[in-house]
Amino acid sequence: MPNLTGRLPGEIVSVMKLFAKKPIEVLLAQAAEQGDGTLKRGLGPFALTMLGIGSIIGAGIFILTGQQAAINAGPAILLSFVLAGITCACAALCYAELASMIPVSGSAYTYAYATLGEFVAWIIAWDLIVEYLFAASTVAAGWSGHLGDLLNGFGLAVPPQWASAPYKFVGDHFVHTGAILNLPAIGIVLLMAAILISGITESATVNNVIVALKVSIVVLVIVIGFAFIDPALWKPFIPPATHDANGEHFGFKGILTAAGVIFFAYIGFETVSTAAQEARDPQRTMPIGLLASLGICTVLYILMSLVITGLAPYHTLNNAHPVSAALASHPQLHWLRQVVNLGVAVGLGSTILSLLYGQSRIFYSMARDGLLPPFFGTLLKGRRTPWIGTLITAAFAGLAAGLLPLDVLGELVSIGTLMAFALICAGVMYLRITRPDLPRSFKTPWWPGTAVIGILACLWLISGLGAPTFIRLVVWMAIGLVVYFGYAYWHSRYHERKLAAAPAE
Ligand code: ALA
Repeated sequence: MPNLTGRLPGEIVSVMKLFAKKPIEVLLAQAAEQGDGTLKRGLGPFALTMLGIGSIIGAGIFILTGQQAAINAGPAILLSFVLAGITCACAALCYAELASMIPVSGSAYTYAYATLGEFVAWIIAWDLIVEYLFAASTVAAGWSGHLGDLLNGFGLAVPPQWASAPYKFVGDHFVHTGAILNLPAIGIVLLMAAILISGITESATVNNVIVALKVSIVVLVIVIGFAFIDPALWKPFIPPATHDANGEHFGFKGILTAAGVIFFAYIGFETVSTAAQEARDPQRTMPIGLLASLGICTVLYILMSLVITGLAPYHTLNNAHPVSAALASHPQLHWLRQVVNLGVAVGLGSTILSLLYGQSRIFYSMARDGLLPPFFGTLLKGRRTPWIGTLITAAFAGLAAGLLPLDVLGELVSIGTLMAFALICAGVMYLRITRPDLPRSFKTPWWPGTAVIGILACLWLISGLGAPTFIRLVVWMAIGLVVYFGYAYWHSRYHERKLAAAPAE
């Protein structure tokens, strides 16, 4: 009998088991499950697209775009968006091929488990935690800053020591800021977790309303802002390179650095793929949700970056609310500032909601595969939501949001996601070479260019993020290996020995 760690006496790690694959029959059986004790299929193509947009549009476009234009790229932030957009498009196409090889839909973790084996799937899942969980923290920290501004506008204030992180990163180490905790950031994470736990239909309704609001606000800023643009502000389009203690800014290197950071703005389109078991007719509706949300947001982002750098000199945009700051330079647009501030405060809520959703569903899948403790997969009676997994996700996301600074979190999220995307592109290439026989209902076009460009673009953007961020990722991955070899490996349901004894799915 396995002991508490699931380990047999004298058992050592077997390389073969690292390549264990989740059987397709199990995936099919899980996809076909219905009724109590399973997730509820409540999402159609519209809700899935809204889920994607809900995750994508957030702190990236409302906060990081202006900041990166001011610090690194100037008006050429538009080129940073194009670079990051191409990277995401390559990854999305590879995603689609991987998905089409598996007869059910699921997250990159699930696809990798069925095709590339358990260890690669674990590495991707560990990267995805950085993406979803820490992205939720980052957006919550950004939300807190916006709430402060909004309250200030009404003459109210949260005591500063309770409204920002107690640490910031200066030079090469963390220093104390004098603050105690970012309490509003923790509060918004818990609120969104409560909505998620209340039910998938309820969550989708809240998300649809908020997404409609934030897309309307982005469109409003673009349409109204265009009339006030001064094209002289776009010159020089690529400001000449400068150097300071933090390195090189502007010029070509600046565009690259900004692309790595604002890549964050695109993160979330794959949340759609984590909704596999809650989507109706997922093979048809999920590609629609994935590509439609990425396409819509790319267009909005490029237009938005043109507008805000055309409304105010780019160097005035390095603050916690750059869109509102850009509008402030035109007295006729003051009314719009209040609308934007309110819209951002509400809109970032749905970004947090969607990201927490994606993370809790990946944990749910991992628990069912035995790689995480079973309670991550426990569903709330009547509501059919993975409540313990959602609460644990929220607890960690809230803690990170309360303690860590926004820039450190944001760069960690970008690098983790870029790494996951590079692995997905590489995985698809590997399978084209080793398993050309597998049926693929969708083949990534411009092969092998798309995958090669995807991998190189991800590595290139990673190189722009700097050594401290890379070191943090290495530490995070090392923790992942400890958890894998300390727990997951010994509890996996798809190692040969356990498969024989695994209860029917
Ligand atoms: N893409 C999301 C945002 O920009 C994570 O907030």
